[in-house]
Amino acid sequence: MISTGFERIRLIPKTLPDLDFERINTSLTLFDKQLAAPILISSMTGGTASGAAFNRFLALAAEECGIAMGVGSQRAAIEDHQLSETFNIRKFAPNALLFANLGAVQLNYGYGIDECKKAVDMLQADALYLHLNPLQEALQPEGNHDFSGLLPKIEQICLSLPVPVLVKEVGWGIDFETAKQLLEVGVAGIDVAGAGGTSWAKVEMHRQPDSKKDAIKLAFEDWGIPTAKNLLQLREIEGKPLIIASGGLRDGVDLAKSLALGATLGGFARKFLLAANIGERELINQIETIKTEMQTAMFACGVSSLSEWNISHLEGIERL
Ligand SMILES: Cc1cc2nc3c(=O)[nH]c(=O)nc-3n(C[C@H](O)[C@H](O)[C@H](O)COP(=O)(O)O)c2cc1C
Repeated sequence: MISTGFERIRLIPKTLPDLDFERINTSLTLFDKQLAAPILISSMTGGTASGAAFNRFLALAAEECGIAMGVGSQRAAIEDHQLSETFNIRKFAPNALLFANLGAVQLNYGYGIDECKKAVDMLQADALYLHLNPLQEALQPEGNHDFSGLLPKIEQICLSLPVPVLVKEVGWGIDFETAKQLLEVGVAGIDVAGAGGTSWAKVEMHRQPDSKKDAIKLAFEDWGIPTAKNLLQLREIEGKPLIIASGGLRDGVDLAKSLALGATLGGFARKFLLAANIGERELINQIETIKTEMQTAMFACGVSSLSEWNISHLEGIERL
């Protein structure tokens, strides 16, 4: 099975850190929002009754812990206004950094700036995620298969939307050339959502078992750019763009490695989904644990604030 690659690289310990653990600064400011830690609840579900309760849980936890949160695709709520309440989470998270979400491919199926604005307004979001998921759409029988000519349409959204546009994958990574093109047309940041975590080829296999099509899905089980390798690749883009690490992050040490590879935030989807299913306290415990793990890694590497992380804190990058 494909892995993120984080297990192949190691943080280099600093045996005599000139630091007081309690004074390590894990906070940052992004899109004018203050975060207590560089942690993101990655985009997941919404648009159903259970999705409403789930989004509320996640939003309350994001507010309490001072972290960022993305919602899942808002397409269902754009098509059926009644579902928009399931995304009305700003009331639970008045200060949190919140990201709206739509599939970029919808720009080829009748969506434009109005739908993007609606998605942002639904949760008074600070930014909009457009997700790119060509393989997922190709593996879905009902998927939208026309990805042609999307770049200029994404450019138009970047020009007209009052909040920044970010682009993410859903678990297979974003190649160097595409990331560069997206940033050139005005995208404010890239969330790699790389391989090694949630595999949509597998999810689709369980969602709609079909012996003939399952063989096709199985062939893509190991698809994608491993998350750590993807982060390393995107370091080569000039101008230090905003990069978000996600896709199979397991803990605060993976998060610390992501920051050393140049990411500003680290996102977790499946891990927080499992915790939220147990309950709100478990979710908050998980977030706090990741934060403490990351802070401990900072202490043990002699890093006193997030901006100090850099590639020299890692060994083994040639193995990625
Ligand atoms: C239940 C579930 C629903 C998801 N729904 C969306 C979605 O609607 N939009 C999106 O951009 N990504 C979606 N994702 C992808 C995640 O945001 C993330 O990129 C991916 O799961 C990799 O992270 P992970 O390995 O931590 O799960 C979903 C993931 C999960 C587990």
